[in-house]
Amino acid sequence: MTGIHSRIIGTGSYLPEKILTNAELSATVDTSDEWIQQRTVIRQRHIAAAHEHASDLALQASRRALEMAGIAAEKLDLIIVATTTPDMVFPGTACILQSKLGIHGMPAFDVQAVCSGFVYALATADQFMRSGQYEHILVVGAEVYSRILDWQDRGTCVLFGDGAGAVVLKRSEAPGILASCLHADGSYAGILSVPGSVCGGAVSGRPLLQMDGTAVFKFAVRVLEEVALEALAVAGLQKSDIDWLIPHQANIRIIQATAKKLGLSMERVITTVDRHANTSAASVPLALDEAVRDGRIKPGQHVMLEAVGGGFTWGAVLLKW
Ligand code: UT7
Repeated sequence: MTGIHSRIIGTGSYLPEKILTNAELSATVDTSDEWIQQRTVIRQRHIAAAHEHASDLALQASRRALEMAGIAAEKLDLIIVATTTPDMVFPGTACILQSKLGIHGMPAFDVQAVCSGFVYALATADQFMRSGQYEHILVVGAEVYSRILDWQDRGTCVLFGDGAGAVVLKRSEAPGILASCLHADGSYAGILSVPGSVCGGAVSGRPLLQMDGTAVFKFAVRVLEEVALEALAVAGLQKSDIDWLIPHQANIRIIQATAKKLGLSMERVITTVDRHANTSAASVPLALDEAVRDGRIKPGQHVMLEAVGGGFTWGAVLLKW
């Protein structure tokens, strides 16, 4: 394949310092370490400090990705931030991040696709890259879900955490990104949402996450298989060509079911959910960064990134490392 493609040349991530364990959570809400680990494998999650916003987490992850890429922030032609927990209603977190990086001029915008946000943002960046006008693009997933949880609702508060992950894309004659497939079905909006809005200077509705866990579980397992197969078909590859699967990190049972359907052993799946919990748009780039830095992902390997989240939205990006 020749032409214009996107290659990831740097990855970075950041987790807030404070760790909240299941045991600590059990002291404030009616749950137990045993229940949480059995149903999800989650042992702990990171929680942002009061002064830390999504852009602060994004800044740390971006600096690390730029460092690995070996380029100065001034070289960036575009910044896309995927977040469901922006610093404020506006300006966009991407603009705030741009300013914190000490740069200006290049376009910067947010993508709101909940847990699929990073995959959506990466696919969007690839389209910009293919236009030929851009050479370096920063794509970030950054979330502070701790701010939108009902800490008395044991059905949801045990599942999420805060964090950020980032990648730097570079224009390349060889891929890089081989295929990206995105989908949404708004008729499922009600099974996972934060149903609050700003109206007349106040928040109306309930600005905290609510979820029908069972419905989300079933939906996720179905579409994560479908969209992975779709991306393989676009790239002309087989299931057996996947070297690494990096799925959205929500629940180990969803991940295991997806891997099984794709005929992959769990040794070829990157998982961080036990330590990070569900960090929404940050989960895929956090897991990617971990596997790149510890040397599991090697040049020439095929990596399948995929996610599903509120909207409902889902998508996959298949790339050659
Ligand atoms: O990014 C996408 C976002 N979300 C997801 O991907 C989540 C998808 N869903 C799931 O991961 C699972 O459905 C959950 C982990 C949320 C729940 O697991 P489950 O095996 O489907 O449990 P359940 O909802 O059927 O609940 C079983 C029981 C209930 O008690 P009763 O009614 O049987 O007496 C719950 O009230 O477990 C209870 N329960 C808890 N108990 C202790 C629910 N949450 C908790 C808790 N601690 N944290």
